[in-house]
Amino acid sequence: MPDGGLDVKGVTTSYGAVRALEDVSLHAAPATITAVLGANGAGKTTLLRTISGLVRPDRGTITLDGTELTVLPVEVVARLGVGHVPEGGGVIRELTVEDNLRLGGFLAADRDRNAASEIYEMFPPLASRRRQPAFTLSGGERQMLAIGRALMAKPRILLLDEPSLGLAPLIVAQIMSLLQRLRDERGLGVVLVEQNARSALSVADTAVVLNLGRVVKTDAAAAVAADEGLRHAYLGF
Ligand SMILES: Nc1ncnc2c1ncn2[C@@H]1O[C@H](COP(=O)(O)OP(=O)(O)OP(=O)(O)O)[C@@H](O)[C@H]1O
Ligand SMILES: [Mg+2]
Repeated sequence: MPDGGLDVKGVTTSYGAVRALEDVSLHAAPATITAVLGANGAGKTTLLRTISGLVRPDRGTITLDGTELTVLPVEVVARLGVGHVPEGGGVIRELTVEDNLRLGGFLAADRDRNAASEIYEMFPPLASRRRQPAFTLSGGERQMLAIGRALMAKPRILLLDEPSLGLAPLIVAQIMSLLQRLRDERGLGVVLVEQNARSALSVADTAVVLNLGRVVKTDAAAAVAADEGLRHAYLGF
């Protein structure tokens, strides 16, 4: 048993006859960013959905600080500290910023009345828009809200599915540096799924490259970024 955190071991996940993940393993330690990279259909979203209990694996184990997650209902997995920001953020458009945050707080193991004010400190643009419906936010603000909502539940590990999708480079850089701060200041473990491999590798400690549902490489992010063959074959840069 290494240093706690999230351990995925030998996970195979299928949708009917479609095998989306095959024998996937990874370790995401506390206070590290693990980038999960790969082309369309590689299985990145399926991996996050399997970790958070939205889909069940055929085989394999997933533990958080030693607790087996694959047997638990999805809301229990969330309460144990798995925060999931799905692709597109999954905020409720008709609800205000504040109500979206409060919904996130319902999943917290212990309620904290000041949790929202911490989020507003972290994301000042959300504070001035707290009474606006989420559909009035820009793409970047909506992604901040999605991350803020997940943080309201006080996760120990944060799963993010392509948080940079559709955002301008400046906003992407802000989100990446926020993830670094969450790692460095709060010791949060982050699993960062990205097609934007270059941005993800610039902040990640470790990278896992998936192709057709299998892990083709697990290495230090800097080593993956320096591997031209791997980059050309799987990462598109
Ligand atoms: N609900 C589903 N039913 C059937 N097959 C699915 C379902 N969701 C995903 N798949 C298949 O599983 C494989 C992995 O898909 P997944 O969405 O995990 O990939 P991804 O790496 O997230 O891709 P993208 O970069 O396009 O988001 C693909 O072959 C996909 O077609
Ligand atoms: Mg996906």
